[in-house]
Amino acid sequence: MPKTFRIAPSILSADFARLGEEVRTVIEAGADWIHFDVMDNHYVPNLTFGPMVCQALKPHARRADGTPVPVDVHLMVQPVDALAQAFAEAGADYISFHPDASAHAHRSVQAIKAKGCKAGLVFNPATPLDVLDWLIDDIDLILVMSVNPGFGGQGFIDSALRKVEQARRRIDACGKDIRLEVDGGIKGANIARVAAAGADTFVAGSAIFGQPDYKAVIDGMRAALAG
Ligand code: DX5
Ligand code: ZN
Repeated sequence: MPKTFRIAPSILSADFARLGEEVRTVIEAGADWIHFDVMDNHYVPNLTFGPMVCQALKPHARRADGTPVPVDVHLMVQPVDALAQAFAEAGADYISFHPDASAHAHRSVQAIKAKGCKAGLVFNPATPLDVLDWLIDDIDLILVMSVNPGFGGQGFIDSALRKVEQARRRIDACGKDIRLEVDGGIKGANIARVAAAGADTFVAGSAIFGQPDYKAVIDGMRAALAG
């Protein structure tokens, strides 16, 4: 069965002075999800936005016909649970966290799911996938970092492709419908390689928001995926 690919623009690279408009424009340009990078100046050396901004943007995350567009919250925070809960209440659809940032990753997954959200685990470039031995049956998303978390506009780290292949094997073996997302340094020129490794969902920040025509970039990514 052909995969359904999803493109998830990261608003980390959007114009923060016009965030609502940026979300609407990128959805009109073909975004499937809105990726929301939460940084705490503790787990990562940068600081972005919190649940109040998510709540303010939620009404903008809709297509012209009113269909909601999933808000994909990527927590780069430590500790995890209180903020995960706040983002669930702020309208997040997916909430992903770095298992190394939680003292009790299993509990954090359950807390996210108890709020009615889909739960994801995020793996840094040097982090092994081992916790999936114990958590894969409980999650909805695996997010493989292809840069070190903290900043947009970094170069893609090639070893992430091997990790994506490993994650794909684990997903296929467990047989559950789990999204495999890759985050960092993705652009039209490398997206097909990332898909060939097994990814189905692609975060892109600077590649999209760094260009004047978001639709042209997203269309180019889809053409690369189709080819
Ligand atoms: C990095 C963030 C990414 C980032 C990707 O910590 O998780 O989502 O915005 O940005 P680009 O696509 O510019 O590498
Ligand atoms: Zn991210």
